[in-house]
Amino acid sequence: MAIIKKFRIKSFKEINSIIEFEKVSLAYGNRLILDNINFKINEGQIFGMLGPNGVGKSTIFNLITGLINPKNGKIKINNEDATKYPVYLRTKKFKVGYVPQYGGFFNDLTLIDNLKAISEIVIDNKNLRSDRINYLVSRFELDNLKEIKAKFLSGGQKKKLVIALSLLSEPKVLLLDECFAALDVLTIKMLQEVIVNLQQENRITICICDHQARDLLACVDVAMILSNGKIIAQDTPSNLVKDINAQNAYFGDSFKFN
Ligand SMILES: Nc1ncnc2c1ncn2[C@@H]1O[C@H](COP(=O)(O)OP(=O)(O)OP(=O)(O)O)[C@@H](O)[C@H]1O
Ligand SMILES: [Mg+2]
Repeated sequence: MAIIKKFRIKSFKEINSIIEFEKVSLAYGNRLILDNINFKINEGQIFGMLGPNGVGKSTIFNLITGLINPKNGKIKINNEDATKYPVYLRTKKFKVGYVPQYGGFFNDLTLIDNLKAISEIVIDNKNLRSDRINYLVSRFELDNLKEIKAKFLSGGQKKKLVIALSLLSEPKVLLLDECFAALDVLTIKMLQEVIVNLQQENRITICICDHQARDLLACVDVAMILSNGKIIAQDTPSNLVKDINAQNAYFGDSFKFN
């Protein structure tokens, strides 16, 4: 498996942290989903989250965007306590873009009308909307799909549309929930390159979770493994696959990476 990233930024120590979870706990009823977790995503980093179904990865995205609030703890964005900020404020103020695990588009609108509708919400200057739409249509090679209703697009085409929608606002932080799911090998590679280019050319901070562990590890700088409400390991991809806790809880003993 080719590593998509040509180099990984080794140290983010002097770099600003853009997302920070401080002692965050979350429960649904009496089921504790996240148990006092702490982690930081640094500015410009591509950060991966791995963990079994139901461990709380989408929940972490919902906590970052403000769709849900923690039982305890703080969520800081750009060093500011954003725990009490509503969704729209986090999106606008900190420029957080979000690609949800499911949906994220208008089924009955064509691909181009989806882009137009969201551009009217997120791009204030009317004159800039069509330039941005054209740029994204060309970048994601969506030109010949423009007039198709979103509900008739294939799984991979829908994914590309939702990612294009999330980039309309030129986010500084991009959250990708299972962006590789249901995509063919070449589309995954295209998307990995898009992700790495967004980091390297646009300095966007990106947080991805996915069950395609190899595809995720090929494009992240660091990743963490969640298990039973806790972060049990966090490291660069090559160190993480050697980590004994990560092997026991997630990779098993026969997982090979590059
Ligand atoms: N609104 C809700 N009410 C009750 N329980 C919920 C709710 N939303 C999520 N959960 C529970 O929280 C846990 C974490 O869910 P989450 O969707 O974050 O998992 P995930 O790691 O994203 O899983 P997957 O890999 O399957 O997408 C699950 O056990 C789920 O059942
Ligand atoms: Mg999920």
